[in-house]
Amino acid sequence: MTHAAKAPDSSKALYGGTASRRITVRDIAAAKQRGEKWPMLTAYDAMTASVFDEAGIPVLLVGDSMGNCHLGYESTVPVTLDEITMLSAAVVRGTKRALIVGDLPFGTYQEGAVQALRSATRLVKEAGVGAVKLEGGERSAHQIELLVESGIPVMAHIGLTPQSVNAFGGYPVQGRGEEAAAQLLRDAKAVQAAGAFAVVLEVVPAELAAEVTRVLHIPTVGIGAGAECDAQVLVWTDMAGLNGGRVPRFVKQYARLREVLGDAAKEFAEDVVGGAYPAEEHAFH
Ligand code: KIV
Repeated sequence: MTHAAKAPDSSKALYGGTASRRITVRDIAAAKQRGEKWPMLTAYDAMTASVFDEAGIPVLLVGDSMGNCHLGYESTVPVTLDEITMLSAAVVRGTKRALIVGDLPFGTYQEGAVQALRSATRLVKEAGVGAVKLEGGERSAHQIELLVESGIPVMAHIGLTPQSVNAFGGYPVQGRGEEAAAQLLRDAKAVQAAGAFAVVLEVVPAELAAEVTRVLHIPTVGIGAGAECDAQVLVWTDMAGLNGGRVPRFVKQYARLREVLGDAAKEFAEDVVGGAYPAEEHAFH
């Protein structure tokens, strides 16, 4: 008789699993136990979200990166709760399986736990998200605690927190040097102790992110944080090459959508100007 180790149940995998119900935070916790890595993308509208959902992406973030990538703002700072609520509702409507995480915008939770609960409650009730995300480590622990006690799962976000762009004076790498690294570790432990189900680590040294991932029992979601995180997130318009301008070093572009769309628009325009569109098969008689 052989004593082969029992193969992990691949039907439960977050990516590639067969369950058709919505992913929950319990599934996320189980994936950490299994040592399984998973992908997360942002989404800001129903149609794009449905594409990612059908592709099997288990977690979609309606990020306040919509400020730069969807709404034409210069940063995430001007994004409002109304905007996130409306677009989160669209993403929920466009999906069947993914866990949808709605971002709490700047100014909607910094006043304290009660303000955070009021804002998060709107996202859960009006948009139907399964979890919310907020920025900050130790400084946001009270907010996380009250949301979790109230039944709202929270994804934390530490390291480079873009809502603090004015304080950072840009988007520099975080956690460099002994003191900054120790603070990042304290922040990670604080959000875990407060009850967060996962924590985004944005633009921190890979070695530090690896240490945080080893120390925590909740999953780390890296963006510019090296390969050792439990999950990886990218802003979808970066991932698919839709954004113009400078591409951050940590981004891998998996498509060139800006070129594809631009070429399609030019071909359409030339057909209209030259009379090739509409053709007979596009006309009603
Ligand atoms: O808003 C966002 O898209 C984010 C991700 C970069 C994690 O916070």
